[in-house]
Amino acid sequence: MHGSSYYYDYLYCCKLIGIKHTIGYIMRFIHRRGLFITSFVFLLSVMCGCTQSKIYRIGVSQCSLDDWRMKMNREIENEIMFHEDAMVEIRSADDNNEKQISDIRYFADNGFDIIIVAPNEAAALTPAIKEIYERGIPVIIFDRYIIGDCYTARIGVDNEGLGLSAARYALHLKGKGAKAIEIYGLPGSSPADGRHKGFSEEFISGGGNLVATVNGNWNKEDAIPAIDSLLRIHSDIDLIYAHNDRMAIGASETAKKLGRNEIKIIGIDAAPHIGIQAVADGVIDATFLYPTEGYRLIRTALQILKNEPYERETVLPVSSAVDRTNADILLLMNETMEEETGKMRLIKSQIDDYWVKHTTQTTLFYACIAIIILMAGVIFLVLREYWQHRKYQKELLRQNEVLEEQKNVQQQLNERLKEALQSKLAFFTNVSHDLRTPLTLIAEPVSQLAEAPNITSRQQTLVRLADKNLRILRRLIDQILDFRKYENNRLQLNLSEIDLGKAIEDWAGSFYELARKRSLKLTVSPMPGYVYTTVAVDAEKIERIFFNLISNAFKYTPDGGGVNVSYGVDPEGMFTISVADTGKGISERDIGNIFDRFYQVEHIHPNGSGIGLSLCKAFAELHGGSIKVESTLKKGSVFVVHLPVRHIGEQIEEVHKLIRSQDVEAELGTVEAEVTIDENKPVVLVIDDNKDIQVLITELMRDTYNIIAASNGSEGVRKAVRYVPDLIICDVMMPVMDGLECCRKLKDEVITSHIPVLMLTACSMEAQRIQGYDSGADGYLSKPFGSEVLLSRCKSLIENRKRIKELWLKDAKGEAGPAKHAETIKNANDIDNDFYNRFLDIFKETMGNSELGIDDIASRMGLERTQFYRKIKSLTNFAPVELMRKLRLKYGRYLIKTTDKNMSEIAYEIGFSSPAYFTRCYRESYGETPTETKNRLYA
Ligand code: FRU
Repeated sequence: MHGSSYYYDYLYCCKLIGIKHTIGYIMRFIHRRGLFITSFVFLLSVMCGCTQSKIYRIGVSQCSLDDWRMKMNREIENEIMFHEDAMVEIRSADDNNEKQISDIRYFADNGFDIIIVAPNEAAALTPAIKEIYERGIPVIIFDRYIIGDCYTARIGVDNEGLGLSAARYALHLKGKGAKAIEIYGLPGSSPADGRHKGFSEEFISGGGNLVATVNGNWNKEDAIPAIDSLLRIHSDIDLIYAHNDRMAIGASETAKKLGRNEIKIIGIDAAPHIGIQAVADGVIDATFLYPTEGYRLIRTALQILKNEPYERETVLPVSSAVDRTNADILLLMNETMEEETGKMRLIKSQIDDYWVKHTTQTTLFYACIAIIILMAGVIFLVLREYWQHRKYQKELLRQNEVLEEQKNVQQQLNERLKEALQSKLAFFTNVSHDLRTPLTLIAEPVSQLAEAPNITSRQQTLVRLADKNLRILRRLIDQILDFRKYENNRLQLNLSEIDLGKAIEDWAGSFYELARKRSLKLTVSPMPGYVYTTVAVDAEKIERIFFNLISNAFKYTPDGGGVNVSYGVDPEGMFTISVADTGKGISERDIGNIFDRFYQVEHIHPNGSGIGLSLCKAFAELHGGSIKVESTLKKGSVFVVHLPVRHIGEQIEEVHKLIRSQDVEAELGTVEAEVTIDENKPVVLVIDDNKDIQVLITELMRDTYNIIAASNGSEGVRKAVRYVPDLIICDVMMPVMDGLECCRKLKDEVITSHIPVLMLTACSMEAQRIQGYDSGADGYLSKPFGSEVLLSRCKSLIENRKRIKELWLKDAKGEAGPAKHAETIKNANDIDNDFYNRFLDIFKETMGNSELGIDDIASRMGLERTQFYRKIKSLTNFAPVELMRKLRLKYGRYLIKTTDKNMSEIAYEIGFSSPAYFTRCYRESYGETPTETKNRLYA
């Protein structure tokens, strides 16, 4: 059986633990929702005092279940009510050793902290108890003992004393000579052995006669047959002494049945409902209290568990007999006690109920506080968010207002700008109109001049240049005027039904000559599947689109590249003209704006007007068509024009070839200047990607200078190293290698370092000038420039250079000492000083060797003969042989003045092949013979 109190306690514990777990879960759940909640839950748990305290688990193993043990179990349960930190489970073995062993093991294996055992039979139970005791589980033995001392504490009763009291009481009842029968509890059960010993010894020594002892196994059922047969044998028995009340009642019933009412019967236990009741009812004559004291077991167990001092051996004393005189009062007392105990239990259960309620309410209370705080927090956060949002919105509104104001100002500005732009454009248009007449008036004389007989080739070049640029200018003015018309919606379409495919082929025809010159592969073909069609378009405008696209393709495709023109009708029924090139391509940044008015693609065509492509777009759109471009940098571009296929009648008009080869030549060709090299003139290298500028400069300077031209920086450096010119004129913005890089390279190269560089550019900004000077430029000239300025700048740079040359020269002619180092030539740059000093060192080392040739010195200087020659010549104005002779003579004159050496000694020392040759050269140089010099000194 399970004690009801235990269950109650157990359930109570479970409830508490369950509530704690639920709170824990909620807390973990909330914890995941943020730090704020976590800290809040922590606060809550502290408030709840949710700390898990140790609950001691006590196992009680009873050997049987009877009135005496039930009383004891009630006492145990009553006691446990006062210990919040303990719970108890009671098991009964029903007088069965095996069952009791299994009960003990159950407690041990299920984590009970202490086991209290009343062993059924000592010998049978001792090994199992010993085992769990040795496992470290504390064991309390009570009521019945085991063999040995494998227990933590033992609580028993003075059973011998009990037997002794019973014997005295028997003698008191029946006097000496009384004949008695003893009913034995259980052989091997310590209480039975003690009770037998105490009784038999006292009874016999007091004159009593213990006729027989019979085994009752502590049971009424076993006792009855044994007594029955004994009473039948012994007819003179005065008294029966039974080891417990149950066996005593059995003996009483048997004696009465046999009519032996005179026999006195004594029992042991005095449990109220059996023993004392039997005395009160006159069933038995007396019983002796076998104390239960269940509370003592629990207290001792907790003392052990809490490491408090406890009694290891407790022997409870024996009290006096319960007989007719006190049985009723004892029953009454017991009744009262039971009633009180019942009340106490009720109160306890009510307290437990209240406690559960209180705990629940407390938890709820804290949960409510938590929720309130949480909600307050959430409300706070929401409100804060709301305030911030409002603030932000206000700020946005304010910014919007500011922006609106700015927008208004901007709009006004834009309006003003637009107006200004419009009036500018109008002015521009007017000027363009005005320019047309003088332009025609210039064009005509120029074309007549070109036809004139007897003009020199130079004059012819100049006239061709003028004619070419007149055409460009005329085309630009036409474009501007057309564009203005388009913007003012005054551009009209003059449609005519034409064979557009054929027209394209014709127009492209004017480009073949140029393509051949530049080794460009120009292909013109219909698209696959093209079916002949005519189309109504404004031929002049389509020709302008085509001219623009194909000119651009030629401009941006390097020599040897390819331009592919194709035409056809696409699946949407649009007439398509595609112009593809293998040029440099257009960057992503530029491609979106390429058709915008005045948009200039930087670095590609910095001087372009930016009007050509926007006009193409305007013309295409005027037709109801479109223009598109696709491009990959360094691979090329494809321009595609789509035009709707319309017809205005059967009549097909012939397209007069509008693109003339002169136009192509003017737009893309170059006027080659004729260069004649005159040995007496300085050489000027012109580096500019614009062929026309090259030609212009050539024509302006060819009277005074020999002109060499290069189209970009890298070609310029190459030519400068090859020709070592006297001056370099270099443009800043160029493809492949720009002017600044080119200038830097020229100034770092020993062969070219001395050459003055004049930078020529359209940009006149101060920063760019500084950049130019930083890269070593000697001068800077802004475009456009007049011929006079250009010539005077060139002249002064070459003069400057000459002055530096004279310094070298002076050094070579100087009177003092041998050829000295040139560090004093401050106007020359470091590279040139280094170069000259290296030359002097090598010369001094080898001066005595008359066989020494220019080739030897040039190779020791790391240069080719011609480079060495040009460098020395441009530095000193002397050819190397001349310079070396001068240096030798100078040293010779020094030796004449400072030593006693004779003339032939000196001649050989300074590397002359013979004294006679030395004398001749010396006289040529100094106007006197060496001997005359010497004589003059000693005169
Ligand atoms: C109860 C009981 C009692 C007796 C005791 C001895 O089980 O038989 O009647 O006094 O055990 O251990």
